[in-house]
Amino acid sequence: MVVCVCNAIREDEVRKAARSGSMSPCQAYRSLGRQAKCGQCVPFAREIIEDERAIA
Ligand code: FES
Repeated sequence: MVVCVCNAIREDEVRKAARSGSMSPCQAYRSLGRQAKCGQCVPFAREIIEDERAIA
């Protein structure tokens, strides 16, 4: 599933970034070499990161 339409970032990419230590959507996007644009995806991305960190 695509999380961030502006950057075409997929859910599995956000999860992988979270597992690699990204604590926030901004950090996760930066680790993927991208940055938030419209910001619409940020709450959803944050949820995914929290979910992934809860599992880890
Ligand atoms: S959808 Fe992610 S910045 Fe726009």
